[in-house]
Amino acid sequence: MSDTDKELRVSKIRDGTVIDHVTAGQALNVLAILGIDGSGGESVSVGMNVPSDKLGLKDVVKVEGRELSQSEVDVLSLIAPEATINIIREFDVIEKNRVERTDSVTGILVCPNHNCITNADEPVRTEFAVLDDGVRCSYCGTMVREGDVAEHIDTRGSG
Ligand code: CTP
Ligand code: ZN
Repeated sequence: MSDTDKELRVSKIRDGTVIDHVTAGQALNVLAILGIDGSGGESVSVGMNVPSDKLGLKDVVKVEGRELSQSEVDVLSLIAPEATINIIREFDVIEKNRVERTDSVTGILVCPNHNCITNADEPVRTEFAVLDDGVRCSYCGTMVREGDVAEHIDTRGSG
């Protein structure tokens, strides 16, 4: 068995997206950001606490037949700032991008303020400004601290 074979914990995928170098412990939050709970029928592989040269331990999420939207990548950057997004076609990595921290994130996160316009039955997408210590709702100013961001991912899958 070669070293590569020994190290491969999650099989390669044919077409889709590999989110690699995810902060250890964040894989399930990555799935929440992507709105994946298994009910959509996607083939998904998750590696948790996998040894990594760069990070010590990392998580990896592989999704077949799916690419990520910019808003998904933006929210990912909050919980997994070291992540790389690999686009796979016919088993080859055809594109590799680091996530970048952005000034604001739209959609995907929900505002904790129940009186916020984004929680009324209005067609308003959430928008948060990204600050050093968390994110702030652009509509009502409510802060979500960095460590609490994962708890405010919209799990209703609206994206
Ligand atoms: N990968 C995959 N299926 C493929 C090709 C790659 O699941 N058909 C995964 C690899 O297992 C790895 C990631 O996609 O987790 C990136 O692949 P690659 O660029 O080949 O690996 P590295 O060179 O180790 O990436 P990096 O330099 O970003 O660490
Ligand atoms: Zn708000």
